[in-house]
Amino acid sequence: MTVQPLPLIAGNWKMNGLVADGLALASALGDRMRAASPAPCTMVLCPPATLLGAVAGVLEGSGVLLGGQDCHSEEAGAYTGSVSTGMLADVGCKFVIVGHSERRRDFDETDEMVAAKAAAALSRGLTPIICVGETLDQREAGQAIAVVEQQVKQSVPAGGSGVVVAYEPVWAIGTGRTASTDDVAEIHGAIRGVLGEAAIPILYGGSANPGNAAELLATPEVGGLLVGGASLDAESFWQVATAG
Ligand code: 13P
Repeated sequence: MTVQPLPLIAGNWKMNGLVADGLALASALGDRMRAASPAPCTMVLCPPATLLGAVAGVLEGSGVLLGGQDCHSEEAGAYTGSVSTGMLADVGCKFVIVGHSERRRDFDETDEMVAAKAAAALSRGLTPIICVGETLDQREAGQAIAVVEQQVKQSVPAGGSGVVVAYEPVWAIGTGRTASTDDVAEIHGAIRGVLGEAAIPILYGGSANPGNAAELLATPEVGGLLVGGASLDAESFWQVATAG
């Protein structure tokens, strides 16, 4: 019998949360995970960099894992404002999101830069969550599969082992508009085709919430969810976390 891995449910808090809110949210989720038996999922919280150390303390012993939202590809040096993978590992991170569409859009991050960040994460023992996804224009032009396949080929380090891929259609992020399960199955199937049979989880992200999480998690090749807005409220995120 094949044992299905637990869904990976990651909360990307983006640029939200002061110390008090962040600790309250993390501690509410940590408490629920401590009390849950068996654990409903592998849970990862990705707070802003300012909160990582404090959130790590609150999550200790809860089984909830910590992730950064971005990293630099270099280990140290004159890169004002950046955080290295070694720094993330040092404060207890096990994951780091790389290539989020907001960073591709706002900081002109290319697939090559994303691949370098992912490789830096792997070299420090972190699991990179490599984000890909087409824009609305690309989808309407019938290019969604080609765009995503290309991003996967160029953003995932050679071999791909030890990474997670997240399909986040840009038009579904923060819009309340979720991709249909047919679209998700089609794109995830295409991503799996590029990755091969490797045991790389493929997450879906884009307006995932308590109302659609079960359906998304039941879709072929969906190994978990990368959640933005709905991860900022403990009850909503817990409902997503327990939907699989
Ligand atoms: P929303 O869940 O707010 O649409 O954000 C998705 C996302 O970008 C997660 O990385």
